[in-house]
Amino acid sequence: MTIQTHTGSRIGTTVEGFDPVNASADEIEELRRTVYEKKIVVLRGQDLDPKGLLALGRRFGRTEAYYQPMYRHPDVHEVFVSSNVDEDGRQIGVPKTGKFWHSDYQFMPAPFDITFIYPRVLPERNRGTYFIDMAQAYEQLSDELKEAAHDTRALHSVRRYFKIRPSDVYRPLSEVSAEVDAETPPSVHPTVIDHRFTGEKILYISEGFTHGIQDADGRERPDLLNALLEASGQLDTTFQHPNIHLQTFEKGDLLVWDNRTLAHRALHTTTPEPAVSHRVTVYDETVRDSMLNGE
Ligand SMILES: [Fe+2]
Repeated sequence: MTIQTHTGSRIGTTVEGFDPVNASADEIEELRRTVYEKKIVVLRGQDLDPKGLLALGRRFGRTEAYYQPMYRHPDVHEVFVSSNVDEDGRQIGVPKTGKFWHSDYQFMPAPFDITFIYPRVLPERNRGTYFIDMAQAYEQLSDELKEAAHDTRALHSVRRYFKIRPSDVYRPLSEVSAEVDAETPPSVHPTVIDHRFTGEKILYISEGFTHGIQDADGRERPDLLNALLEASGQLDTTFQHPNIHLQTFEKGDLLVWDNRTLAHRALHTTTPEPAVSHRVTVYDETVRDSMLNGE
């Protein structure tokens, strides 16, 4: 396994020659550190079926099946499928997922630590995923905004991007909406979180899921939410903001990223092209101190 050390890029690095079946515990540990240090790791030349992808995810921690069954791979439930390609006339997974700034499971009480995305059918054009390093975004805030964000909490909800399921057809929208609120009430996290492993401060908000910020007295601060999103680059519809990193990939690439630090957004083609990707998400249950001490 060779980890590229001089990437010339602030975030992202590539790894050649990683063998997911025979990787040693030391190699997994080295990769884990690299994910937190470089935020995105691209494992080149991978050839994994859904079971193999799940097995790799499990080397990094506890995997979990997505809470909505329609996203799950029919044979391996912990694999989330984004696909606009029919298989034998059957829709597998869900098309056009994640085309908005977010962090996976930000709307849940316990968001994932690491996301694995393995593109299986790659579009020819407009291939890639946008990322923003929200630790860097925090670091770049003015002192006034840092001070204003301090001691506030952010509310996150899946509501705006909840996808109507086939089983919802003919149901009243109010009933579906009430069910979404009951199953996934807004999650509340500090607006600025400390990374569990690196200790970095992260501006933990997204344009897609964060619907409010409350100050220490419970007052809503829409002005503050807007100012923080603007400063982070997430409101730039041209995607030219210097914080925005476009990570492209080739056939065989498997992307592994730090889901707490990065906000991301899928890039979908304007003209529909076949695209399929498999995802596994992981709770990293490594003891924090061992990471910080470099043991
Ligand atoms: Fe995502």
